[in-house]
Amino acid sequence: MKIGIVGLGYVGLPLSLQFARSGVQVLGLDIDPTKVDAINRGESYIKHIESSAIAEELRNKRFEASVDFSRVRELEAVIICVPTPLNKNREPDISYILKTGEAIAPHLQPGSLVVLESTTYPGTTDEDLLKVLEFGSGLKAGKDFHLAFSPEREDPGNPNSKVAIIPKIVGGFTPACLEKATALYSKAIKTLVPVSSCRAAEATKLLENIFRSVNIALVNELKVVYAGMGIDIWEVINAAKTKPFGYMAFYPGPGLGGHCIPIDPFYLTWKAREYGQHTRFIELAGEINTSMPEYVVNRVAEALNTKRKSVNGSKILIVGLAYKPNLDDDRESPSYTLMDLLKARGADVSYYDPFVPVIRPTREHGHWAGTPSIQWNKETVSKFDAVVISTVHAQIDHSVLTNWASVIIDTRNAITDFSSKVWKA
Ligand SMILES: NC(=O)c1ccc[n+]([C@@H]2O[C@H](COP(=O)([O-])OP(=O)(O)OC[C@H]3O[C@@H](n4cnc5c(N)ncnc54)[C@H](O)[C@@H]3O)[C@@H](O)[C@H]2O)c1
Repeated sequence: MKIGIVGLGYVGLPLSLQFARSGVQVLGLDIDPTKVDAINRGESYIKHIESSAIAEELRNKRFEASVDFSRVRELEAVIICVPTPLNKNREPDISYILKTGEAIAPHLQPGSLVVLESTTYPGTTDEDLLKVLEFGSGLKAGKDFHLAFSPEREDPGNPNSKVAIIPKIVGGFTPACLEKATALYSKAIKTLVPVSSCRAAEATKLLENIFRSVNIALVNELKVVYAGMGIDIWEVINAAKTKPFGYMAFYPGPGLGGHCIPIDPFYLTWKAREYGQHTRFIELAGEINTSMPEYVVNRVAEALNTKRKSVNGSKILIVGLAYKPNLDDDRESPSYTLMDLLKARGADVSYYDPFVPVIRPTREHGHWAGTPSIQWNKETVSKFDAVVISTVHAQIDHSVLTNWASVIIDTRNAITDFSSKVWKA
């Protein structure tokens, strides 16, 4: 069997490798020739994916990458894993999905299967993608070709998060589409969870991410409330999580980051409006979570104030630029918001992140592009007026940092030793 996986990023690349390992021939398709060339040389561009894993599947001739979408003709199934960001008005941007649909449609073979994996609002697969595929191929979904939605549940950086063993939701446009899609995934994934429709599958993924966003907002709000009462939220959470039922620990932080939690809930907000529905929990959670960087900056100002210093003119170091520990992924990272806010208040801002030696050019953070991480040594770190811990990477020694820094604003409970120079935020 030969399948195609479109979009060889954080989701598509590990999925390709899992199918290839399971004996399925995989053609990876991407519009980015640098990624395609790197794969075909056996090189990984994602930190937690080993180059050797790619090289092995190339050697076994089960995996190759291409920018040539006409090769969809060779394929029995196509899985789409392209980005689903928000546009500048914070509305869903499904243009990547639609462009992919347009690129594959003319080459789609009768009897083949198309599965969308990108996180999106209910209706994307059986309304938007369906329309583009039918128009471009002249084929009918559910009759001439199969159509399904199956969301990804990748947890980057978690060593126990293996594509093969994470149960996978699958929803088909028709019962036959579902059957075809489950038959495909069962080759590579241990547990499949069929649901009644593409929409139910799309809605399941959104529920999972909204659940996280709302619970993170809850502890962020409690962090601020308890701080005002002189109570440490992290101590409270660690005590609460000893309850063996009915409680699940979520942790506060400097704001939301990553490609999913800050974005996906608003896909539902937008779509719900079409049905005259309001997503109040999502909006409230968004409001609380996006106010966190401002709270942290105010704590920085308070901390500096005790040293008779102002934010304006102070040298401030952000420790951790990636949004998640032990990863190089800086998408939507709240560290950038902290850097922007502090700079706007006149601070001289630098960062340290062993995973991000230099800031790459991106649309959102173009003004920081090219900025290098500082060197991690006493002489450099001790020159800063304040250090903000934004992400906790395992390889950063926080006890050393406590010795080097004069003031620390800790948004992650990284420093548990009592020290008057440490401000929780
Ligand atoms: N990263 C995660 O942890 C995660 C987890 C669950 C779900 N998701 C969802 O999976 C989807 C993909 O996310 P990702 O993190 O893999 O994104 P990514 O940016 O890492 O990868 C997307 C890839 O698609 C390629 N691409 C863009 N437009 C294309 C097009 N028209 N045709 C072909 N390729 C194209 C890009 O070059 C890139 O290689 C998103 O909907 C995301 O919300 C991501």
